[in-house]
Amino acid sequence: MDTVNGAYVPSEEELRARVARLSVEQKVRLLTGADFWALYPEPDAGLRRVVLSDGPAGVRGETWDERDTSANVPSPTALAATWDCGRVEGIGALLAHEARRKGVDMLLAPTVNLHRSPYGGRHFECFSEDPLLTARIGIAYVRGLQRAGVAGCVKHFVANDSETERMTVDVRVDERTLRELYLAPFEAIVREAGVWAVMAAYNEVNGTTMTESPLLREILHGDWGFDGLVVSDWTATRSTVAAANAALDLAMPGPASQFGPWGDALAVAVADGLVDEALIDDKVVRILRLAARVGGLDPNFPNSDSLQHPPTQPNPTAYLDPAGASAGYGPAEIARDLRATAAASFVLAGNDGLLPLDRSGLGRVAVIGPNAEVARTLGGGSATVFPPYTISPLDGLRAAGLDVAFAPGALAHLRTSAARAPWLLRPDGNGPGTEVRFFAPSGELAGTERRESAAFRWMSGFGAVGAAESVARLEVSCVIRATDAGLYSLGVSGLGHFRVLVDGAEAVDVTLSLPEGADVVEALMTPPQQLAPVKLAAGQSVSVLLEHDVHSSPMADFGTFFELSLEVPHGTDDEEIAAAISLAAASDVAVVVVGTTAEVESEGFDRTSLALPGRQDELVRRVAAANPRTVVVVNSGAPVLMPWTQEVAAVLLTWFGGQEFGHALADVLLGDAEPGGRLPTTWPASEAGVLATQPADGVLAYTEGADIGYRGYDRDGRVPLYPFGHGTGYTTWSYESITVDRNVPGGGLRAAVCVQVRNTGVRRGREVVQVYASRPDSAVARPVKWLAGFAVVEADPAETVDVGIGIPERVFQHWSGGGWTLEPGTFALAAGPSSASLPLAGQVELT
Ligand code: BGC
Repeated sequence: MDTVNGAYVPSEEELRARVARLSVEQKVRLLTGADFWALYPEPDAGLRRVVLSDGPAGVRGETWDERDTSANVPSPTALAATWDCGRVEGIGALLAHEARRKGVDMLLAPTVNLHRSPYGGRHFECFSEDPLLTARIGIAYVRGLQRAGVAGCVKHFVANDSETERMTVDVRVDERTLRELYLAPFEAIVREAGVWAVMAAYNEVNGTTMTESPLLREILHGDWGFDGLVVSDWTATRSTVAAANAALDLAMPGPASQFGPWGDALAVAVADGLVDEALIDDKVVRILRLAARVGGLDPNFPNSDSLQHPPTQPNPTAYLDPAGASAGYGPAEIARDLRATAAASFVLAGNDGLLPLDRSGLGRVAVIGPNAEVARTLGGGSATVFPPYTISPLDGLRAAGLDVAFAPGALAHLRTSAARAPWLLRPDGNGPGTEVRFFAPSGELAGTERRESAAFRWMSGFGAVGAAESVARLEVSCVIRATDAGLYSLGVSGLGHFRVLVDGAEAVDVTLSLPEGADVVEALMTPPQQLAPVKLAAGQSVSVLLEHDVHSSPMADFGTFFELSLEVPHGTDDEEIAAAISLAAASDVAVVVVGTTAEVESEGFDRTSLALPGRQDELVRRVAAANPRTVVVVNSGAPVLMPWTQEVAAVLLTWFGGQEFGHALADVLLGDAEPGGRLPTTWPASEAGVLATQPADGVLAYTEGADIGYRGYDRDGRVPLYPFGHGTGYTTWSYESITVDRNVPGGGLRAAVCVQVRNTGVRRGREVVQVYASRPDSAVARPVKWLAGFAVVEADPAETVDVGIGIPERVFQHWSGGGWTLEPGTFALAAGPSSASLPLAGQVELT
């Protein structure tokens, strides 16, 4: 029996022998999920139930609510902003550890679509606009997961770079662009990380929907020799025969009776000779191979009937804290690693010397802004996880022992969120929480749940209470207790028929319907709302009952999801801004935390504007006018417009920072940690020239070819607000020298660049040394320059460091006439701290 890292690795013959024991019906059954997240077990093949889960900012597990919490790691844009493959591999291992804790075998991550446009709704979930940086970070992420025996599933194959009409859009992209840009991270992750699964996207590419696309067989199987599993995005399988004849292996979610289109219809297609049984066998082999890799295939079968082959136990400490590798790994270690990773991702985009703040003699710190009190630690959509806790900027700065005062400033949200502490209490007055009662179609009570939240999402039935059809009606009861006197708004957010009663009197009776053309995930994340005003005195409590007819929702088959919404009294924007300005004026320093909200930045839709929502720009400008010592902290997963950068002392871009966001922020503001990040994406100065994501007649043409991100700016001679690769730390560097050697032994490298840098500042620091290639006299069209390699260095003051950066052959190649070609001649290689600052020039002559 062969094993790798403790996992059983069967040969092709062994897998085929197991497949041969199964009937066509048994085989076909395995090719659609058993439910939303799991595959069927098959005792006749020694296969246990294999569980899949989103990804990528944590491991959600099989439930979608607060009862099953998950470590929330910084968003993928943040991970890429570290430019630190070792750290990201450690995060992969941390996620593997979480996966095992939650009984998950395969994480639906990483997302390696490119930042083609900052309008893209899932920008936060993708790493970068650059294929090389995306590939390197993606390889590290997958290695961390898979070395610990948990499968990665790289997604969404391919050209799913924006959300508008994502289920149907036909992306037209020429083959060279596809190969050099959009397929490149997938190729690197298949070849170099040996990823075990790939997810086929919703969209079409050049006229064929991706679950039926010839690219699966020709490129994935053919060119790259991928031996893993191709799984559809959820509900992306659109046909029985065409999808089966393409190289799609697994249709998700299941069961087929509910979601189709395989199941019995596929067995009939095999019987009718429309799909060759050998193709079905190949798909089952791939499922069994995946299962073996994650410890889901009994190695002793058929001599044992154990479907519980124990998976390997990951030890993330070995990556993230080698000194403590023998110690256990629990919540404290997770917190430590997430805190350090968030700090390593923050990009100090501008600093007139105010940062780091000098703790000694620091007076009151005004913490201002809508995202300061309730930060966004992750992006919306399928990437959602439920962290055990989140540290907001306000919490983090308070915990650092500073004299902190808070003012929200402007309101940024348009939608009301779910009722929460301190206003939400259980019916008995204890809290926070709610009580849910489930009623069968007969009217009988079918079960109850005590919950800590007022946001409900049941997918694939109602868990222990029963299957979807066993519940007809739900009641949620709670108490809302006013903190301040004023006008509260109370109601519901969801789909279908709801009633809300306040102290027994009907406040809302409404049927909320799916907005025309809404995406499933959009409907899930931001469904319509109906609120009613409720006037309360300070300290007053009211009892609230929410009733819902489950089958009145147009998405009842998919799941039941709604929130009891509560808006608490607040001043008008004018009043809140005025209060923030007076606080800032009376404080030593102002930290303004601005950002996006779930309703503007999420899976399921693209942004329609890059501006910060609400009156946040005005808030920043007026606070900065009141206190010149103003730091702006940007809490967004993607670039936002910042017309005020010249008016503030410092700008720190912090992404969606994960559950330890606020602690990391305090560390960086106070200089206890270096702001380690560099931009993985160009930060535009305006919307002019930014690529649109709106299809025309169902077609989104990538007419810009390879010139996305910095390549587009270079081509047009446009200047962004902050260039790709930009970011400074708390020290300064001088780029001393570059040498380029083309005699590199093995490893697919064609050049070795050695860059010498010197720390010219007064503290130890971290620098990301970047190398860009160009070919001024090329016979073929090329970008002005492109990222060729990078490395992270650390040095003490006055210390000089030599860093070696290997440049693979592919960096110099272009796709031409159906293959990779190297145009002989001289390539320029320039090194520096960002794509717009390359003080060192070298070159390499290639034949
Ligand atoms: C998303 C995938 C995700 C899947 C399951 C889809 O809507 O596009 O990225 O893995 O849902 O949640």
